[in-house]
Amino acid sequence: MGIGVGVLALCAGAVGVAPAGADSGRPAYRDARLPTEARVGDLLSRMTLDEKLGQMTQAERGALAPQQEDLAKYGIGSVLSGGGSAPATNTPAAWADMYDSFQRTALGTRLGIPMIYGADAVHGHNNVKGATVFPHHIGLGAARDARLTERIGRTTAEEMAGTGVDWNFAPCLCVARNDRWGRTYESYGETPQLPTVLGAAEIEGLQHRLGDPGVLATAKHYVGDGGTEGGDDQGDTRISEKELRATHLPPFRKAVREGVGSVMVSFSSWNGQKLHGHKYLISDVLKKELRFKGFVVSDWAGIDQLDGEEGFTGEEVRTAVNAGIDMVMVPNDYKKFLTLLREEVDAGRIPMSRVDDANRRILAQKFRLGLFERPFTDRSRTDDVGSGEHRALARQAVRASQTLLKNDDGVLPLKRKSKIFVAGKNADDIGNQSGGWTITWQGQSGDITPGTTILEGMRERAKDVTYDRNGEGIDKSYDVAVAVVGEKPYAEFEGDRPGAMGLDDEDLAALKRLKSSGVPVAVVLVSGRPLDIADQLPGWDALLASWLPGTEGNGVSDVLFGAYRPTGKLPVSWMRDAAQQPVNVGDGKRPLFPYGYGLTYRR
Ligand code: GLC
Repeated sequence: MGIGVGVLALCAGAVGVAPAGADSGRPAYRDARLPTEARVGDLLSRMTLDEKLGQMTQAERGALAPQQEDLAKYGIGSVLSGGGSAPATNTPAAWADMYDSFQRTALGTRLGIPMIYGADAVHGHNNVKGATVFPHHIGLGAARDARLTERIGRTTAEEMAGTGVDWNFAPCLCVARNDRWGRTYESYGETPQLPTVLGAAEIEGLQHRLGDPGVLATAKHYVGDGGTEGGDDQGDTRISEKELRATHLPPFRKAVREGVGSVMVSFSSWNGQKLHGHKYLISDVLKKELRFKGFVVSDWAGIDQLDGEEGFTGEEVRTAVNAGIDMVMVPNDYKKFLTLLREEVDAGRIPMSRVDDANRRILAQKFRLGLFERPFTDRSRTDDVGSGEHRALARQAVRASQTLLKNDDGVLPLKRKSKIFVAGKNADDIGNQSGGWTITWQGQSGDITPGTTILEGMRERAKDVTYDRNGEGIDKSYDVAVAVVGEKPYAEFEGDRPGAMGLDDEDLAALKRLKSSGVPVAVVLVSGRPLDIADQLPGWDALLASWLPGTEGNGVSDVLFGAYRPTGKLPVSWMRDAAQQPVNVGDGKRPLFPYGYGLTYRR
């Protein structure tokens, strides 16, 4: 690595000094009245090569924390929190303190370029304890409500602004074609239509009034991440260019038109070539054909995978940057990355035009966000995190996402005066009903963050509700049994299901116990995808797909008790059995429940 940026401050005279801004003394890039292009041009002309390379570098907060001054020493332009990477005390105020501390360090550099802080707020500001956690995308796909989705984006931005975090690695615009994929729940649906319409709505909400409180959104993961063979996460999407353009590109085309500020590249491959090195798709299609003017960021250590070996090399850095990646989510060994990047540029293997293009794109978004004028957290919003108003919106989204798939003899809606027995591991578990990307990367069972479980919601509405996780104690004295079953949290490849896709033994045992009582059984399925339940379905009197509702489980009970009628429609085809995967609308297969299916209450 060349000399640290901090030392370069001593030879400021060595670099071009552009004219002062409109009012004398202040450099033009600091004049918010000037057009962004002029500010970018002025700033770029003042930057050293090392300062430019620093802007192309994103480091994880944990890697920087022990020596935070490295942020300034190497002029690093961006910090991120990987999934669950939170300050020691996970409160909104502690996040704001952490953000402001990093920002103060960044502003102390020679040119005082603010850093931009990224995190995955994929269903609310989900890394932050106490934040409002919304239904995951698959539930919003069932709701099919663009206005609601936009409001969720805006509310998420408000909660992020209260903690300083100004860049959201969302929305995922993936088109989930095989439900075996561990990220199916991050998709709005199996056709390009829902990710296109709802993804654009979320971007509109997130980026509304950028910087006050709008945050930068990220269209991800470019492109074809949901179309891999076997639903293998980070696998290979083996389809024609015609199919890629028809199925997986439309959401990105719309997102670019919507003005999305960044695009994240997919770990996956297209016909055997890694997207992280795909110059045609990144530079020719995304940047030239779709005219994307924001910046392209790699995924987590995504460039390391290019040669199939552990770690990253100068060649991988070169391939990724020359393919069109503007910022690399290193995320840990930023010194090695900067050393290799500098070597590639010095050797002329990465042209300065590529470095300058990357910097123009990144700096333009920092100016667009107002970071030079408002670099610190808006503390007036910190108390809004997890507010009653935000939770009410989440509850509305939960209601709208509930999808009724079976309801024999009007078992649903439940009557408030009924004697109700509840069973199942997902009835009283905030962690399970929220799914992955909640407080931690993978999510986890238990009382992980404030909210209302589905059972608590039911007890708000009915007096006589008994709960036993395993269904022990059920007998004929009950009017109805409700089994809240499904999946435990997972994220990314940890959620891939290449084998069976049915309910686990615990759920099957509880269901069997309920069934043996002779009491009518209503099943509430809390899962990130359709499960293989055709064999059990005949024994169930009702089935409500609840997806992954998040912290406001009372939205589920609102529908169970008929305060709101179910209106959800399947955003994905529901398999007849796991062997049917992939099963998608129009493929000639006969699913158990078709794409777009959903019942409501008769009265
Ligand atoms: C992960 C995910 C990506 C996320 C990034 C940062 O591996 O693939 O969706 O934004 O890393 O957490």
